[in-house]
Amino acid sequence: MTALLEVEGLEIGFTDADGAEVTLLRGIDLALREREVIALVGESGCGKSITAKAILGVLAQPPLRIKRGAIRFQGRDLLKLPAAAYHALRGPGFTLVPQHPLSSLNPMFTVEQQFFDLMNYQGRARVGFVDYWKPRLSATRRRDTRERTIAALREVSLPAPEEILGRYPFQLSGGMSQRVLIAMALLGSPKMVIADEPGTALDVTIESQINDLLRERVEARGMAMIYITHDLGIASELADRVYVMYAGRVVEEGATHEVFNAPRHPYTAGLLKAVPKVSNEPFAGIKGTLPDPKAIGGGCAFRWRCPYATAACEGVVPPLVDVGDGRRAACVRATELTLAA
Ligand SMILES: Nc1ncnc2c1ncn2[C@@H]1O[C@H](COP(=O)(O)OP(=O)(O)OP(=O)(O)O)[C@@H](O)[C@H]1O
Ligand SMILES: [Mg+2]
Repeated sequence: MTALLEVEGLEIGFTDADGAEVTLLRGIDLALREREVIALVGESGCGKSITAKAILGVLAQPPLRIKRGAIRFQGRDLLKLPAAAYHALRGPGFTLVPQHPLSSLNPMFTVEQQFFDLMNYQGRARVGFVDYWKPRLSATRRRDTRERTIAALREVSLPAPEEILGRYPFQLSGGMSQRVLIAMALLGSPKMVIADEPGTALDVTIESQINDLLRERVEARGMAMIYITHDLGIASELADRVYVMYAGRVVEEGATHEVFNAPRHPYTAGLLKAVPKVSNEPFAGIKGTLPDPKAIGGGCAFRWRCPYATAACEGVVPPLVDVGDGRRAACVRATELTLAA
């Protein structure tokens, strides 16, 4: 079966103030099949959001630049598409559920106005003045939009949608804003949604309701999802497969339960050990911090923090290779180590 999305050798970087080249994503490979849910996990700063933005085509430019690689969606390389064709895929192709719901709606407009704009102009690279005002003058168009908005808000279980229509974003709670944003993401009937830590800014009970809603909608509509999180518990609940990222590379990939039950990369094992538990066991975090991208050089980026590092880890960047059972890991010692889950 061909993949819905394939990312191949994606490299992203920028030129810093001293004119030096900095590489943030150092060759990311990932694949997502139709109706599949994958999780991207890894600590803050490892490149999860940049990967998402590159796929959506909304990387902050400048300074960030795609240096190498391909992003194929339904077989077409997005990086070679003209801007208008890329734009037309946002909505029916893919959409985003953002990391910061409270600042992702436009504070100047009511919920109804924001849905109106989305329904009438989504997928268009340019909207002229007449194009913008004409639909607003049509009572039929306004009534249709209103009915579709109410249905969309009902789908995400927002109570009293008729009343929410007239509210401004500051009159919504974080959880309500995220439900509105999910309704917006679903509006174009996308094939794939990218949820970038959709619950991080919310309290834990609301976060779990938002995750339940996403899982339910993804299943009911037969969509695929890339779920970004640093919460391994959530990843194990939601995702069929998981990609563990470290310092701009995928270091381990495989079926979620296999990766979490028997990790093959020392970084994955470290992350699993760092999950806080309610017990007397001392808390075991991973020592140190992410390296400066400019200091990684030619070796494994985890070598300074890895309890299993040897001289062999300095020479080459370990490629992501097959380690059996359809799993891949980027560690020269992957098949020789026995790591605790
Ligand atoms: N526009 C930019 N210019 C320069 N560096 C950037 C830019 N955006 C992000 N970075 C750097 O790229 C790295 C990866 O950032 P990214 O936002 O993808 O991290 P993340 O994995 O999503 O982290 P978090 O879990 O905190 O959201 C970080 O070191 C960040 O400082
Ligand atoms: Mg992020």
